Amino acid sequence: MNGMAIACFARGFGGALLSRGLAALVAMVLGVMVLQGAGTSANAQQPAGDPAAEAPVQGQVPGNTLGTNSDTELWRAVRQGVAGNVSIPDKNAATLVQSEGELWRSLRNGPLALYASWALLAMVVVLCIFFAIRGRIRIEHGRSDQTITRFAAVERFGHWLLASSFIVLALTGLNVMYGRYVLLPVIGPDAFGAVTLFGKYLHNYLAFAFMAGLVIIFAMWVRHNLPHTSDIKWILQGGGIFSKKLHPPAKKFNAGQKMIFWLTILCGISISMSGWSLLFPYTTHFFSGTFGAVNSVFGTELPTALTVLQEQQLASLWHAIMSVFLICVIIAHIYIGSIGMEGAFDAMGSGEVDLNWAKEHHSLWVEEVLARQGEEKHPPAAQPAE
Ligand code: HEM
Repeated sequence: MNGMAIACFARGFGGALLSRGLAALVAMVLGVMVLQGAGTSANAQQPAGDPAAEAPVQGQVPGNTLGTNSDTELWRAVRQGVAGNVSIPDKNAATLVQSEGELWRSLRNGPLALYASWALLAMVVVLCIFFAIRGRIRIEHGRSDQTITRFAAVERFGHWLLASSFIVLALTGLNVMYGRYVLLPVIGPDAFGAVTLFGKYLHNYLAFAFMAGLVIIFAMWVRHNLPHTSDIKWILQGGGIFSKKLHPPAKKFNAGQKMIFWLTILCGISISMSGWSLLFPYTTHFFSGTFGAVNSVFGTELPTALTVLQEQQLASLWHAIMSVFLICVIIAHIYIGSIGMEGAFDAMGSGEVDLNWAKEHHSLWVEEVLARQGEEKHPPAAQPAE
């Protein structure tokens, strides 16, 4: 309405529009006066005409004018991750844009997912080729009528607690990484959503079973996995796995199994710690501590002042890398403990293994066990008192 009035007024006070134009002008002037009055009362601390009040205060232009600070500078700071201030408990909210989030996302969904899938595929292909060439490793002397106890019930319990939890953790973790490409197109969004949500709960809670299994097997088997001179011969002979006649001597665990044991323990601890950071976000500072230790040992300059968000992002990437690495190792372990070697599964199934199997793969251990049993049956004769 005002725009119309001004336009008519500008046309030169013409004819019948003149009176309406004047009326509109009067209304406009009155309106402006009312608005100015309101502004003055809202800004009561700056009385009109007071030069001191109108002088610039800390770079601000008087009169409620906005924009003396450059918006460009402001948004550049926001984009560069400069934190502001918030009065809510979540202080992370003070950072509006955190560029490492974008870097984390592109690394995780890009190279990490790609190379991890290649590694998993390569492991399966290598085992298939090995199986095609070598076939199942048989008990060279055939099964005997006798068995020997290899693992007590408590040892098998510890192993299967660790193994079953790890397998579920591996499957549900891989679903988080690849499910949307592999499972979603097959079962559809509703089923995929339900499966993934259930999988997430399984993953969260079974993490504790995995950690318990890790502690149990460490306590039970660490003494059998310390290095021994027989390991050198075993390694030099490639464990005898490429020859049907070669059976390098070994104690309870051979050098190959010791590697599996230590990889399981070390990667398991690393996965557990990074997983703990993801379960309880913003409570850990594992990476700044680790980087500090690495810097002091190797003289590197890794960043040690990491924000909690950066800690989370590193924990997530590390958790995925270590997990995929351990899954590759464990695929090989499952192969050799099941279809790859005749008689091996019994050790973790019933706990009793065939004596010929034991002599071929763990000859030094069999000698120890038989010697111990002999001692128990025929204790050395008591020495006569002098
Ligand atoms: C279906 C899955 C699995 C099968 C069939 C299996 C089988 C076996 C067998 C037969 C042994 C005893 C080998 C021997 O008598 O010398 C063993 C030992 C062991 N397993 Fe498993 N296992 C499985 C999964 C796992 C998983 C998921 C882990 C760890 C995350 C694991 C860790 C170990 C370790 C550390 C040992 C002792 C070292 C060694 O023998 O390599 N196992 N397993």
